[in-house]
Order: sequence, then C-alpha cells, then structure tokens
Amino acid sequence: MIRAITWVTEPRHAIRLIDQTKLPHTEEFIDVVSTEQLVDAIARLVVRGAPALGAAGAYGVALVLAEGAAKGWDDAAIAAAVAAVREARPTAVNLAWGVDQVAPLIPQGFAAVLAAAHAVAAADEAANRELARRGADWLIANYPREKYRVLTHCNTGALATTAWGTALGVIRELHERGLVEEVYADETRPLLQGSRLTSWELKKLGIAHRVQVDGAASSTILRGLVDFAIIGADRIALNGDTANKIGSVAVALACHRAGVPFLVAAPASTVDLQTASGADIEIELRSDDEVNFLGGQRLTPEGVAGYNPAFDVTPADLIDAIVTEKAVFEPKREESATVMARLATL
Ligand code: MRU
Repeated sequence: MIRAITWVTEPRHAIRLIDQTKLPHTEEFIDVVSTEQLVDAIARLVVRGAPALGAAGAYGVALVLAEGAAKGWDDAAIAAAVAAVREARPTAVNLAWGVDQVAPLIPQGFAAVLAAAHAVAAADEAANRELARRGADWLIANYPREKYRVLTHCNTGALATTAWGTALGVIRELHERGLVEEVYADETRPLLQGSRLTSWELKKLGIAHRVQVDGAASSTILRGLVDFAIIGADRIALNGDTANKIGSVAVALACHRAGVPFLVAAPASTVDLQTASGADIEIELRSDDEVNFLGGQRLTPEGVAGYNPAFDVTPADLIDAIVTEKAVFEPKREESATVMARLATL
C-alpha cells in the first residue's frame, strides 16, 4: 500500500512524504520537520493532489506547533506559520480545508491537534474507498459494459490522496471487479503527473494501460476508443463547476461531443461551499520554466515567454457525474439549482 503522506514520531516528529518529484525512477521518502520545508515541498509538488494536500494542511498545523515549541514561538508567529501552510498553493481547497479542520484546536495543544490531523487523514482514506464503490456502481448502473476502456488525466491515485485514490480509486474498484480492459493515461504536461505517477501506480496495480500525450485525448475519445473518462478535482464550486489539472476541460468537451460519459470523483472535502461558480476559483499560475524546459533542457528559443496555468475549470453542464463518498450528483441531468442545493448539504 503506497502512503504518500504519514506522520512519524521516529527519529523525530515529522511529516513523511514520498518525494513525487523523483518518481517513477527513484522511490525516496523525506521527513519534513519545519514549516518552511513543508511550504517548499507543497510548492514544488513533492506532495500534491488535493486530498493529500488536505492531510498536509492538517498535519502541517501539528508541525507548526512542534516547531513553535522547540523555537519558543509566540501566538503571532504560530498564526503566521499556519497561514503560510494554508496559502502554499491556491487552487486545491483541501489544503485550506485541512488546516481549518484542526487549527481551532491549537489552544488545546499539540496532542489534540495531531489527533485531529490523524482523523482528517483516516476520514480521507474512508472517503476514497466509499466514493470508489459509488462511482463504480453508478457507471455500471448507467453505462453497463462487459469491460471498460477508460481515459484519465493527471494523477488521482494513492499518491494524490492519503490512500487508494479518487478517479484512479474508481478505476481500481472496477479493476478489482474484473471490469477494466485498458486505461489511457494522459501524460499531463508540463509536470507529467500522468506519465510519471499514474503509470507508476497502474503498473504496480497490474492494470493494463498506455500513456498518451495530452493532445491525443480528444481524438482518442472522438474515435470511440474509450467508454468513459474520469478525473479528480481540486475544487468543486457550489454549481458543480470543477477545477482540475490543466487539460481536463478539453477531455470534457470531447466527451460531450462524442456522447461519452465524463465523471469527476472527489471527496466532499473538495466541494467549496464558499465558491459559487468556477469563475470564482483562483487558478494557480506556475513558473514559465516548467513549460520552457524539460529535464533541464530549454525547449523554446531564449527569451520566449511561457504561459503555465496549473488548472482549468470544467463547466458543470459538461459533467455527467460528480461522485463523492456521500452522494452522486448529475449536473447534465439535474437542474443547476438542484445541484447547488444538494451540494450545499455536503
Ligand atoms: O498540481 P497537482 O499535481 O497537485 O494537481 C493534481 C490534480 O489536478 C488532481 O487531479 C486533483 O488534485 C485531484 S487528486 C485526487
């Protein structure tokens, strides 16, 4: 069982992360022992994926308290460190959500905060298992097939969560039921979460798959090579609009045109009750260098500017199902007001 993020007490209190920047060739764990190190790890995508960031936020508050005790921080310094963790990346709501789940316990001290962070992590694992079952059940009930050919974008597996996975969790569940023929994994430029991470997980799980360039996805869908597409989410607005890795909306558009079901799988913690629609979601803009360079080699002529939004927003009316551990929403079939009212109850 892959654990992307755990809390360890030996040799000292730390957040243990598998370094996702080094996968698939090097499986290296690092122990994060300071707020600064955690913020850097989040920014560099050593730990990534919305639910894993939720756990990083929750454990991050415990880390702040441990560091603050060692260094004699006052309340203001602790609050500033908590805010730095909360704001380390802007789009995945789970990061701020994870911090907010445990920060109210700060006055009760380190042990109470750590216990609450463990509860956040355990709840995420349970949510993933449950939403995977619900997603598989929904697909089988609505689009019965002997076996499914599926397309997915980015990485939404155990690496992106505390365990199991969301969209990849649904694929795992279908695989365990003997229902997966093949997965098309988009490579996911520029940081290659699909080719580096999703294929690493699928290979370990023994799930038949191939990696394709992002530009192939719409053609693969329009040519009838997949039975459904499924992605995760970084933030789901109240109207069902969904922010996810850049390239997701192109997959949704192609599915809509081809009549292929397009599913979003995410825990309820990814639904942001404060955000009315996708237009209100902040999209992280990352360094041009991630586009202009590959493996340290410049791809573009000197001086050319890049454009590197890390996420896009898929409008709710392109989504057949939003699968959470509590309920499945069907934005294409349901009135927008109904989706909003139902999401608001999560
Ligand atoms: O930039 P990343 O790698 O953190 O982006 C991750 C994604 O877009 C995932 O699809 C999303 O967080 C869901 S992970 C279960």
